[in-house]
Amino acid sequence: MIKTFIIVAQTADGFIAKNSGHEATWTSKEDKKRFVEITKRAGVMIMGLNTFNTFPSPLPGRLHIVYSPDEEASKNNISGVVEYTKDTPADLIKKLEDRGFTEVAICGGTTIYTMFMKSGLVETIYLTTEPKLFGKGMGIFNEDLDVNLELIESNTTESGTTFVEYNIVK
Ligand SMILES: NC(=O)c1ccc[n+]([C@@H]2O[C@H](COP(=O)([O-])OP(=O)(O)OC[C@H]3O[C@@H](n4cnc5c(N)ncnc54)[C@H](OP(=O)(O)O)[C@@H]3O)[C@@H](O)[C@H]2O)c1
Repeated sequence: MIKTFIIVAQTADGFIAKNSGHEATWTSKEDKKRFVEITKRAGVMIMGLNTFNTFPSPLPGRLHIVYSPDEEASKNNISGVVEYTKDTPADLIKKLEDRGFTEVAICGGTTIYTMFMKSGLVETIYLTTEPKLFGKGMGIFNEDLDVNLELIESNTTESGTTFVEYNIVK
């Protein structure tokens, strides 16, 4: 069975970005390293167009599946590198399972995290909390949720970055 997880970094006051176009360059080097390790292990990253557009170029060694409202977006597919979709979460995860993936990384932003969390398909959250404040901005989710989490692992670096792994209690 394929495993679907969210990977996300937030500030200590609970924001993942200041706005939709805010590049995620503000996280620690430890978080960037962990992001690369975990997403390369999965080999596939699902994200929304706003998040994809904050990247200067696709990240090496991972398939990017990008949710785009553009009807014509899939004409720009680069198979195995960047593939555009409008599939429901369930259809997309099934297709990825059929392609042989055993893990899928949900890589944001807020719209995509919320859509996948509401789908009930997410099993795990890798949450990084950085010692930083934005004061206002975008949260991980933007709709009503009532989800219980089970702590799997937690550790904090010397510079105050906390890595927590939670499983979703079904
Ligand atoms: N700190 C972190 O860990 C982290 C991680 C990822 C992203 N981010 C940040 O999050 C921000 C972006 O978040 P966001 O919520 O604005 O955008 P997003 O989730 O990256 O992307 C939203 C896009 O996806 C499209 N979309 C959503 N559902 C769709 C569907 N079912 N079919 C087709 N297209 C669909 C939306 O189309 P519509 O316009 O039609 O709705 C919109 O264009 C950026 O600042 C980024 O840096 C932070």
